[in-house]
Amino acid sequence: MTNKFYITTPIYYVNARPHIGHAYTTIACDAIARRQRMMGFDTWFLTGTDEHGQKIQRAAEAAGKTPQVLTDEISGEFRALWDRMGITYNDYIRTTSDRHKSGVQQLWKQIRDKGYIYKDSYTGQYCVFDEMYVEVGPGEPCPECGRPTETIKEENLFFKLSAFAVQLLDLYTSQPDFILPETRRNEVIAFVRSGLRDLSISRSTFSWGIPVPDDPKHVIYVWLDALANYITALGYGSADDSKCKKYWPADVHMIGKEIVRFHCVYWPAFLLAAGLPLPKSIVAHGWLLFEESKMSKSRGNIVRAETILDVLGADALRYFLLREVVFGQDGSFSFDALVQRYNSDLANGLGNLASRTLAMITRYFRGEVPYPSQKAAHTAEEDLLAALAKHTISEFHDLFEQYQFSRALELAWALVGAVDKYIVENEPWALAEKQDENSRARLATVLYTSAEALRIVTALAHPVMPEATAKIWSQLGLGDIRKVSLENLRWGQLQLGTKLGKVEPVFPRADKSAIERMQKMEEQQRPAATEAPPSAASAGASEGATQGSVPLNRPVSPETPAVPTATSDGKITIDDFAKVELRVAQVKVAEKVKGADKLLRLEVDLGYEMRQIVAGIAEAYAPETLVGRKIVIIANLAPRKLRGLESNGMLLAASLEGGKPVLAGFLEDVPVGARLK
Ligand code: ME8
Ligand code: MG
Repeated sequence: MTNKFYITTPIYYVNARPHIGHAYTTIACDAIARRQRMMGFDTWFLTGTDEHGQKIQRAAEAAGKTPQVLTDEISGEFRALWDRMGITYNDYIRTTSDRHKSGVQQLWKQIRDKGYIYKDSYTGQYCVFDEMYVEVGPGEPCPECGRPTETIKEENLFFKLSAFAVQLLDLYTSQPDFILPETRRNEVIAFVRSGLRDLSISRSTFSWGIPVPDDPKHVIYVWLDALANYITALGYGSADDSKCKKYWPADVHMIGKEIVRFHCVYWPAFLLAAGLPLPKSIVAHGWLLFEESKMSKSRGNIVRAETILDVLGADALRYFLLREVVFGQDGSFSFDALVQRYNSDLANGLGNLASRTLAMITRYFRGEVPYPSQKAAHTAEEDLLAALAKHTISEFHDLFEQYQFSRALELAWALVGAVDKYIVENEPWALAEKQDENSRARLATVLYTSAEALRIVTALAHPVMPEATAKIWSQLGLGDIRKVSLENLRWGQLQLGTKLGKVEPVFPRADKSAIERMQKMEEQQRPAATEAPPSAASAGASEGATQGSVPLNRPVSPETPAVPTATSDGKITIDDFAKVELRVAQVKVAEKVKGADKLLRLEVDLGYEMRQIVAGIAEAYAPETLVGRKIVIIANLAPRKLRGLESNGMLLAASLEGGKPVLAGFLEDVPVGARLK
């Protein structure tokens, strides 16, 4: 029996709060899941959170929380947001749950027992941001995201990835739909053809992870842990694996394009090693951009879904993202575009069609769907609309199956436009003025035809805008829209005499102030960045380098920053930079400045001299925690007085809007006095 459908989102990292980039994937999956249910499929929709690994452990340390407290908090936020957005997930998996942990260990054992895991020592570079080993030399940045890499020297357990190259290439060629769209597939093929090296799948220098069975000094590599969620959530490796039997393999793993390699190379290789069936397809979409670069928590250029939900509602966000972004490509988000789309397509489009059609049926036919009684009242226009509707139903289906949400919605809204035009041209309000039988029959035909087209667009749009369409459906007098079978949706099913429900507007027009209001709400909420490159002074390109230059979190001081002279295009030369003498210093003495809540007085050792620095970090750091710590200072700043104390230099910290400053530091040990350049 193939009448089942299993779809998954990535499980999101809990190092920062959700934003509309995450919402985009989740909304796309929800729309597909809802549609599949309406098509009669036994559908299972999984989402959840990815809670282990070094990145999360560090985020927790930075937030001054235990990893479990942080993950509980943020995982809860994701879930609450999905609930608010009407996401119909069937299960929510957390990788810190017992059911997941035991499933992952079971998968590990299965792979190990087949002989695909061995021990070796590893020395190489690791990118914590991407949670990925990279093949670059020590000190070189990550080729994926440009952030500094860390040298790792550990005894590790390795997975024989290299043994699967041929099988994987075979898979990509024999099943062209395994990776969609094709551009991603080509990239993966090129990557595998260039040669696969075995993969280190354990770590022993930190503990926030799932212990390796029989080797508890090691924790399981976070990507092996995370990918396994797709089966552990179904009960793989547990006493009750009935869901696994029923729903695995997944029909669709929906992901963003930056995690294609993990899903299309590592995941199938792990499954092949364990002797488990492979997912049917992995579908990668592009990035949501904001202010020209990938919306991401590390860059701080995010938009929260909550703001849009507060002002325009969940359906507006759902519709906008699926309508505006061409699936597979990157798409820009702006509040202007959002409000414009909302007004044109929803308030003036579907909303207006619903309210005028239903209001006229209420007024002219006492709220009962009329039916044309005379042949003469029927013209070629109605035939054309019926033909257009029929075409829309079948094309919409095909486009949705190909993940072309934008084109599918565009097509459905072409029907809205056609009906609008039809109403305007036929002037039902004028027909209603006339009392002759012919005009009356004509009026009935025009309103029936409009209502029928409205019914069809409403049913098609339901998976995308569940709330508003449910309201229109009940205003049409048709009951519960979730019971509709899309498979059987046809023109002409609207019954004569259907009694309308209470007619109310569904999409009130948004005025210009909506844009400003949302922008303000976001400005006030700009979250603290948590994935900032560790050494701001040496950070290179960032994750979104392909989109042009990317603003990193500027290493500004909580006090006044030193601004080197700028050239006319705002750039500085290397000589300008060389004027700034950045050095490593060690804190020897730290104490509060009396009468100044924000200031600390520090005595720092520069190796060649001691300095007194007054810094505005008292709210972020208790003085005693700073003693012994190595920090970065500007050593050649002209001295100045703060609260009567001379400050001789300035320290560097990331300045987080609405958050506390975070001192710049180093992951490797560095000698006191070393210059940064
Ligand atoms: O990668 N545009 O988690 P993550 C579009 N835990 N989609 C975006 C987006 C943007 N700007 N930002 C995020 C991880 N996404 C791993 C996954 S799966 C076994 C483990 C969406 O929190 C998109 O789906 O970094 C992307 O792949 C995902 O969130 C990454 O979320
Ligand atoms: Mg990411």
